[in-house]
Amino acid sequence: MAGMREENGSRLRVFATLCKKIGTIVPGSALSQELACSRQAIYKAVCALKDEGAPIESIPQKGYRLGSLDDLQTISPTMIEYFLHGNPVFNRCLHFKEIDSTQTVIKKLARRGDPAGTVAVSERQTKGRGRRGRNWESPYGKNLMFSMLLRPKLKPGEVQLLNLAAGLAAGRALRELCGIPVELKWPNDILCSGRKLCGILSEASGEPDRIYYAVTGIGMNVNMELTDLPVDVRKDATSVKIELGHNFPRWRLLVDFLGRFASLIEVLSGDGGPSALIALYRESCDTIGKQVRVTQDGKDIIGVATNVLDNGALVVRTDEGDKVFVAADVHHLRMI
Ligand code: BTN
Repeated sequence: MAGMREENGSRLRVFATLCKKIGTIVPGSALSQELACSRQAIYKAVCALKDEGAPIESIPQKGYRLGSLDDLQTISPTMIEYFLHGNPVFNRCLHFKEIDSTQTVIKKLARRGDPAGTVAVSERQTKGRGRRGRNWESPYGKNLMFSMLLRPKLKPGEVQLLNLAAGLAAGRALRELCGIPVELKWPNDILCSGRKLCGILSEASGEPDRIYYAVTGIGMNVNMELTDLPVDVRKDATSVKIELGHNFPRWRLLVDFLGRFASLIEVLSGDGGPSALIALYRESCDTIGKQVRVTQDGKDIIGVATNVLDNGALVVRTDEGDKVFVAADVHHLRMI
């Protein structure tokens, strides 16, 4: 275990050193001197980084060079951890080629007592889960599917606040980093021209007055194309690539999202608490002010969404008065 931690530590330090000199050749001797470890240890760390997908070239007799990260499509967990430096919540990244569900991975870590801050990313899920027991499917290696371990001081009924924070963070990342005019649909769907770009699922375990841990999972459509989707769902989904017309580096979106989400978690756990978070959410939530159809327990209710309360519930003005929804499926009908 200690050996493994040490090995991961050398990977991180080698990556950090190469990253500061990106595009230039760094001799193995310089790396081993700077990091005070053997050439053999440097070689091992570089091999491990290459296996993770970090774009490092070994140039015989000269050294190692880290190539541009601008168009990189691989998710190297060490690289993600390097770019998470300074993130107040997230500091560890696990990467899987295939797993049942990243939610399950994180729950296992939570149950064995791991602290908050781990992110599990997978290229494929064999049992990906969506909200309300639906499946979540995504083509191999194109999109982002990840779950995060959180230990917030919340009551079970307040887990919805994590969903809203994650939705707000994802919406901001897609708007500000990718330049996509997304809509944030209560509680946490991210749409573009009415098509889904990102889904969020938060699950928690605890007792009536506190949660032990929460797991927030994100499925973000990044580089998939319409032809990657079954014909019957093509009209309902989109991706960053479909909207922009080109691929987007998934690692950049992941790191950016984790920074924004961590800041919102801090708002939630800070002095202003839920009302400070909800004030930010209200500013960005496109459901407020729209005519909506809310589906709950198989029944449709039509009205105008007027507010999101401090507990995250949606208020809808209907012919029979205001109705408050804690959880429901919402469809935007039109602007009022
Ligand atoms: C939704 O139904 O909109 C929520 C979808 C959440 C999917 C993500 S993908 C990563 C994580 N692992 C899962 O099994 N589900 C979530």
